[in-house]
Amino acid sequence: MPFVTRRALAALALAPAVLAAPALAQGTFPARLVTMIIPFAAGGPTDTVGRLIAQAMGADLGQPVVVENVGGAGGTLGAQRLANARPDGHTILLHHIGIATIPTLYRRLAYDPINAFEPLGMVTEVPMTLIGRRNIEANSLAELVALIRRRGENLNYANAGIGAASHLCGLLLMKAVDTRMTTVPYRGTGPAMNDLVAGTVDLMCDQTTNTTEQIRAGTVRAFAVTTPERVSALPDLPTATQGGLQGFEVSVWHGLYAPRGTPAPVMERLNRALVVALGNEGVARRFADLGTAPVPAERASPAFHRQFWMADIAKWRPLIQAAGQFAD
Ligand code: MLT
Repeated sequence: MPFVTRRALAALALAPAVLAAPALAQGTFPARLVTMIIPFAAGGPTDTVGRLIAQAMGADLGQPVVVENVGGAGGTLGAQRLANARPDGHTILLHHIGIATIPTLYRRLAYDPINAFEPLGMVTEVPMTLIGRRNIEANSLAELVALIRRRGENLNYANAGIGAASHLCGLLLMKAVDTRMTTVPYRGTGPAMNDLVAGTVDLMCDQTTNTTEQIRAGTVRAFAVTTPERVSALPDLPTATQGGLQGFEVSVWHGLYAPRGTPAPVMERLNRALVVALGNEGVARRFADLGTAPVPAERASPAFHRQFWMADIAKWRPLIQAAGQFAD
């Protein structure tokens, strides 16, 4: 290995800030389009939230914010893409509650699932819905629970891989029903929804940003929403508790991230564009139609996002460890 001088090592350590310096020095951030990585397949709930926010952020930044879907491995492949990106603000990641479960679920990642990222601010919190193929042999949550207990691993439960929100919701469901089903992983719940509508998979727990329109169209059967209160976009759908299933509550928070080492002025400019996007009327209207809402301004700060994220890692760790299901 060639001898590396201390001076060279010191220069390498400065590299990220130095590489980002030109854009900052000329005050030209963003100097080009910004890539927003979505760590799940196109057409799913994360993609839906991401594209809405990206469009509104781009309008404020004066450069396009272009979505790049990097699905697979429960969202870790997309997260790894950001961990390896230049910390100059031109690559960001929209992730969700999965970024709080991945540090426990994955014990041998090629990136640091916490220290590789700088939280930019929270975006939205989305309820989940328990849905089945249209002709599933149950007409209520009580009947579905009886069906799961009767057929167990003969039922196929779709998710987007270990670490996905749909995986976490499945963990909670199988714990609440005390029965395991066979899980079928996809690169996102967008493609999974196609199979559920086609009837080739039996059940899924997914976010209202992906299920509301299918439920309204009657292409799937809806059993419950996983929030303490009903969702105004789906007023006829009972909560899991109203349907008689205790301990089955989860909602999917989303946040934006930049690579660790992104300069503070760039972080501030990206956060300002996020806050503008969250105040955009069109974004709020579309979110409301899909059962969610932009977070209040105080949650869109990097400081709040970081403390919320750290608390959620600690919250889910014991449940995941008790389930004993890890990705590796
Ligand atoms: C998606 O966007 O495909 C979903 O968020 C995947 C998941 O987390 O269940």
